[in-house]
Amino acid sequence: MTLQELSAHVAAEFKKTYGRPPRWIVAAPGRVNVIGEHTDYNDGFVLPMAIEYYAVMAADAGATPGTVAIYDTQFKETATIDVSAAVTKGQPKWSNYIRGAIAGFQNRGVKIPALDVAFMSTVPLGGGLSSSAALEVCTATLIEAATGKTIDPIEKALLAQKAEHDFAGVPCGIMDQFISALGREGHLLLLDCRTRKTELVPMSDPAVALLIINTNVKHELGSGEYAKRRAECEEAARILGVASLRDATPDQLERAKSKMTDVVFRRARHVIGEIERTVHAAEGIRQSNWPTVGQFMYASHAALRDDYEVSCKELDVVVDIAEDIGFKGGVYGCRMTGGGFGGCCVALVKAEAIEAITKKIATDYKAKTGIDAVIFSSRPAAGATIIKG
Ligand code: GLA
Repeated sequence: MTLQELSAHVAAEFKKTYGRPPRWIVAAPGRVNVIGEHTDYNDGFVLPMAIEYYAVMAADAGATPGTVAIYDTQFKETATIDVSAAVTKGQPKWSNYIRGAIAGFQNRGVKIPALDVAFMSTVPLGGGLSSSAALEVCTATLIEAATGKTIDPIEKALLAQKAEHDFAGVPCGIMDQFISALGREGHLLLLDCRTRKTELVPMSDPAVALLIINTNVKHELGSGEYAKRRAECEEAARILGVASLRDATPDQLERAKSKMTDVVFRRARHVIGEIERTVHAAEGIRQSNWPTVGQFMYASHAALRDDYEVSCKELDVVVDIAEDIGFKGGVYGCRMTGGGFGGCCVALVKAEAIEAITKKIATDYKAKTGIDAVIFSSRPAAGATIIKG
């Protein structure tokens, strides 16, 4: 579904539910991270792009004073949020991303009006493509549209990140919300997570494409592994005497090896290497040097699998199949993307070979795991937008 089709669909659902057309329609995309994994909370670089899969909300002034009602058109469930006082966590679970974003505006002194909302997301849930960031940023964009109080996109991303921390309990970095808020069509976003400086890296060569392979194994970031990795990185930085792993070099780490456990050493080795790989990969993309970019992607995956230990069998199977197809078959590189423990891989491929590669990965993945993968490609999409209003 294109964004246009999706917003028309949600607008029609709004009308069906509330008996009038919506006054505002807003959207925010999911993302795929090309490289720079588990570097954002280490002050490093990331290189994500927004994908053509979105959370969309259609809304009008609400019928019930002090209430924001959100109808999820897919799961046919309504969340009712009391906005007459400070918004708190509540049920259903998915409403917490929305609650958190609304609370962010309340904390900035914005009075939230009553709203009736219809909602739908095409970002696969739990697939490591930031369905939650899309929902948070989409909500923030709706509040902007409905109140006329627009905020700087960087502040919007930080507001959405705080929603994830405080209302979903995931101590995430800033990548997902940044790209959902700041993505630009035809571009990747090279983000320096320390200074929050961004650089748009054009990715419009029609000869290459990014393929997203959903293993259909779901991860649960809240499970504690993510927070554990963060703590291990902080410990490494403390032992190295640096503010964050961004400041450490491979030599420095090697010299301090005896002062840390093997696990902490390997976590730091991934992060320090990944920050470097991300900067080099961005350079490779600027020069359309696809084989080099592909090598960095494979190296990233190996480090995430062996040193950072956030991959899983299914993700490794996909990368193995991609490596088997190889350069000759049109694959430049492949790696897991997002937090890990399931979710998606991203592959850089020759555009002309997409069909054959898709078929081969689907068949071999099914044979090796018994699971049907979902495989699709996306061009770099635009970040959050007000479509109507
Ligand atoms: C999740 C988090 C991000 C980032 C990635 C790993 O997606 O939300 O902030 O840390 O994991 O790169």
